[in-house]
Amino acid sequence: WFWLLPLCVAGYLMGSISSAILVCRLFGYPDPRTEGSNNPGATNVLRIGGKPAAALTLLGDVLKGVIPVVLARYLDMGPFVAALVGVFAFLGHLYPVFFHFQGGKGVATAFGLLFVLHWPSGLLAGATWLLVFALNRISSIASLSAFVVAPACIFAWLPQAFWPILALSIVLILRHRSNLQKILRGEELGFRKKS
Ligand code: G3P
Repeated sequence: WFWLLPLCVAGYLMGSISSAILVCRLFGYPDPRTEGSNNPGATNVLRIGGKPAAALTLLGDVLKGVIPVVLARYLDMGPFVAALVGVFAFLGHLYPVFFHFQGGKGVATAFGLLFVLHWPSGLLAGATWLLVFALNRISSIASLSAFVVAPACIFAWLPQAFWPILALSIVLILRHRSNLQKILRGEELGFRKKS
């Protein structure tokens, strides 16, 4: 328990590094908080910029979830504490101290922490994302579906981490409120398949 607070603080600070904003600055693209869906995440960087910038954003955001949980596991923390540390990284992404608390929706960071916490759950949630995206080409619907599946997998396979992952999934879904409204109005932006 000695490491709990330092790890949560480290997770939050790491999560607060907004890959999308930094990558857009690096590539000379507009600020993702004021363009497209106004969301600093890989999906929006793909809209504003292109694939290389989006891939770099995705990598950075996934690592923010991976590193704190790996560190917690390395320090012999159990699944509950490791998940909690990951949730703090996720919260850092949503409310980054370095960027006026204007963060993203946490999907990539949540995937990162899920994969290292329990890889079969990460794999199943990831497969859900890919399948749903392949069907409708809408990133938010894929993300929402994946984080309905994720807590169910954790409940079944790693129950010690269930409550932190359930809380994360609820916050992630609530964070997609504007997407949900657009989905219901049939106005959510999708990605067209290249022919
Ligand atoms: O990764 C966030 C995704 O689920 C939605 O992003 O930009 O379409 O709001 P966006």
